[in-house]
Amino acid sequence: MRIGWRRTIGPVAVLIVAWTASVTWRDGAAASGLSDGGLASEVIRVIAEGSVWLAGAVFVMRLLNILVWNGVILRRTGSAATRLLTDLVNGLILVSAFAAIIAFVLDKPVTGLIATSGVAVAVVGFALKSMISDLFSGIAITLERPFRMGDWIEITGGTVGKVLNISWRATGLLLGNGNYVVVPNGRLSEMVIKVYDRPATPWRDEIDITLGYDVTAYQVERILLSAAMDVPQVAAQPKAPDVRIIEFGDNGVKWRLRFWVPDYPNQGPIRYAVQRNVLRNLHFSGIETPVARIDARVSHPTAANLSSRGTEAFLGRVSLFNMLEAEEVAELTQSVAFRLALAGTAVVRRNEAGASLFLVKEGLCEVLIPDGDGTERSVAHLKPGAFFGEMSLLTGAPRSATVRAVVDSMVIEIAKEALQPILSRREAVVEAMSNALAERQLHNDRAAFEGASSAEAKIAHQTLAGQLLGRMRSFFGLGVTAEKPRIPAEIHH
Ligand code: CMP
Repeated sequence: MRIGWRRTIGPVAVLIVAWTASVTWRDGAAASGLSDGGLASEVIRVIAEGSVWLAGAVFVMRLLNILVWNGVILRRTGSAATRLLTDLVNGLILVSAFAAIIAFVLDKPVTGLIATSGVAVAVVGFALKSMISDLFSGIAITLERPFRMGDWIEITGGTVGKVLNISWRATGLLLGNGNYVVVPNGRLSEMVIKVYDRPATPWRDEIDITLGYDVTAYQVERILLSAAMDVPQVAAQPKAPDVRIIEFGDNGVKWRLRFWVPDYPNQGPIRYAVQRNVLRNLHFSGIETPVARIDARVSHPTAANLSSRGTEAFLGRVSLFNMLEAEEVAELTQSVAFRLALAGTAVVRRNEAGASLFLVKEGLCEVLIPDGDGTERSVAHLKPGAFFGEMSLLTGAPRSATVRAVVDSMVIEIAKEALQPILSRREAVVEAMSNALAERQLHNDRAAFEGASSAEAKIAHQTLAGQLLGRMRSFFGLGVTAEKPRIPAEIHH
């Protein structure tokens, strides 16, 4: 027998014993003509009959618990009835049992009692009005279910928490920082509550940023959309991020980046990842966020436009060129070309001939290579500051992959002739490229090295990098020194 049913045995036993006792007493009194017995027999009658009512009430409460609260309600809604509702119904059953005892066992009129208790209730009610308001708000929350246990809700004042408990008087919220907050139900019912729905439901987050009037809408879209799309959980959502203008302010234009996250609990880390990407993208495009200025008419010099100053600043920030002298960067700046790639269009196509290097200035590009069955598969994302095209540039081979813009992107193209003087002077740039090239090649060719130990993969990488460096030197006429690949001592056996 289930524990629930076992708990009905006690009240049923008391009910039978008390019922038998009261019937026996009544029969005995009737037989002896002593319907109006002495005090002792009257006490026995009251106890027996009172016990029948009370045991009956407890039995009904236990039955409701099994059949309704943990039965019908659990099956229909998926969760048992809240304590608040069960306590309330149990209270009503007990009050009714006591009223029945007064009316039928003690033979006293209940109407007088109800009238007296009405006054008492009014007095007590006035004294406890906030508690009563909490109680009824709690009942409303339980019945209406604007939110449920486990939901994340935001209450007035911006506090966000997970609903852990709904009781008689208050609702308990567990905040993201681990604090537990108890909000009286009365207060809660007056608040505007934002429900972030069930834990695994996609949810839209927003980041606002103010940028100067000299930054174009296209630039802002490239910067903000790529910041969001560069976060895998955001890119995996069916709804794409978008950008809105919130207001044209004194200090600049207030932009809003809106993006979807898988659920509320993941919102914090994803939001931070997007914010970091926004900062990185702003850094590479040279855009400064306007700070409050005393005279808003004084225009602030920014490197956001396509001026040579902006390009120079960008090239100086790219890690590939950060060992170059200012004059070398200036020299390179003279011969770069800007390419705007709209979302979905290719910057370079696989198997095409090419002899230039590209740098992502704003936006996000993906690298596509065909897999076994010929369908194109994205193997890498190239974010602001990244370079591509080094394979064809340095080896003379056709483009090894298609590079396509994920969101509108601004890329910079540097022709081979413009790079040649730098490469002949700066071995470090050539090495950085050949390392990236080897790493990328191996990444694309991973299947061939699947199961290889990390030491073997390292040798493969360095051998390939060394070979490529040799090929590049001859391709660029940099003086072939037939360098041996540098293999670390620990894998030299
Ligand atoms: P290239 O072959 O000239 O043209 C396509 C470019 O895609 C290639 O040079 C690399 O710069 C880039 N590329 C190829 N594979 C990867 C990868 N796995 N990660 C990053 N970039 C890559």
